[in-house]
Amino acid sequence: MAESLIIDQEADKAAQYQQLLPQIEALISYEEDLIANLSNIAGALKQAMDFFWVGFYIVKGEQLVLGPYQGPIACTRIAKGRGVCGTAWAEGKTQLVADVEQFPGHIACSSDSKSEIVVPLIVAGTVKMILDVDSNHLNDFDATDQKYLEKLMDILAKQL
Ligand code: SME
Repeated sequence: MAESLIIDQEADKAAQYQQLLPQIEALISYEEDLIANLSNIAGALKQAMDFFWVGFYIVKGEQLVLGPYQGPIACTRIAKGRGVCGTAWAEGKTQLVADVEQFPGHIACSSDSKSEIVVPLIVAGTVKMILDVDSNHLNDFDATDQKYLEKLMDILAKQL
């Protein structure tokens, strides 16, 4: 199993994602335990992309429940349709939020969080979990993050 990630920190963001995704795919291909794989994905994204907060919320009944993550402590449960995460679940679509203060119902787990991207993981038309990434800077995510984080959730969905 790979013990370190190889990412060119001088490369642009798209190139970094292109380097990172195959390494994550290889990393999770050796392990069948979901929590172990989600933990390593959160760790790999934190290490490679230096996100402020990155992690998973898993659909359990009528709520999203906090899963493996890297960053400051976070809210443990989010109802369907609530906040950015609950909206991504309800709509089954990525939410790209340039300024969390402008998002109706945003849940402020940390007052340092300024912008956010939330990507649902969908299996056979059903949202199973969401990937949440927060930044402590405004407008820190764009279509490049959306493209590659959605690709990552497709890679993970194939392993479930
Ligand atoms: N801000 C999210 C809650 C999760 S934390 O950011 C980790 C939301 O509005 O759903």
